[in-house]
Amino acid sequence: MFKKIINIMKFEEKKFSIGELKGISARTIEEHLKLYAGYVKHLNLVHEIVENQDNPEYVRREAYRRQGFEFGGMRNHEFYFESLEGGPQPLNENSVLYKKIVEWTGSFEKFLEIFKNLATTRGIGWAMLGYDKRTDKLIQYWVDEQHIGHLTGVTPIIALDMWEHSYVADYQPSGKKQYVEDFFTNINWSKVERNFSEK
Ligand SMILES: [Fe+2]
Repeated sequence: MFKKIINIMKFEEKKFSIGELKGISARTIEEHLKLYAGYVKHLNLVHEIVENQDNPEYVRREAYRRQGFEFGGMRNHEFYFESLEGGPQPLNENSVLYKKIVEWTGSFEKFLEIFKNLATTRGIGWAMLGYDKRTDKLIQYWVDEQHIGHLTGVTPIIALDMWEHSYVADYQPSGKKQYVEDFFTNINWSKVERNFSEK
């Protein structure tokens, strides 16, 4: 009997090309990318443990508990860093996404207002915008830590990191709101549109 799955799941650390940003320093991005690399490494470690039956069952079962956290830490950061690549670009007003946002909230400005409000939720986690295929609707939601609160079947479109490591060095804890403002100044909406069209 095989004790190991033949092809153990392995995730690759992605590389990102992030230029100069308003407010968010290169140093913060550099440190942040190291944290991202840690999630990829630990997700791979989880898979090495759970997919090898030579490991004690207790160890494997406990490793499963880490899977959502490590996977979320990897994938959430990929959405975040990708949305900061290529420099700021506005959302095309003729795009399906823009129309969907306006249909939902009444105006693009209103959407920004409610999303920024979501982002200042107390505690660490992620402010997310997603698309629910079943209802053909956009939905915003909060994810605690990296994994608690993801909505089944909802594809992320925007992931805004609200862990303190993403802003405290540049903004201090009291500068959280400015960090959120600057994220939307820096965001490349063509990446967000791509996420939406690939949903
Ligand atoms: Fe982060």
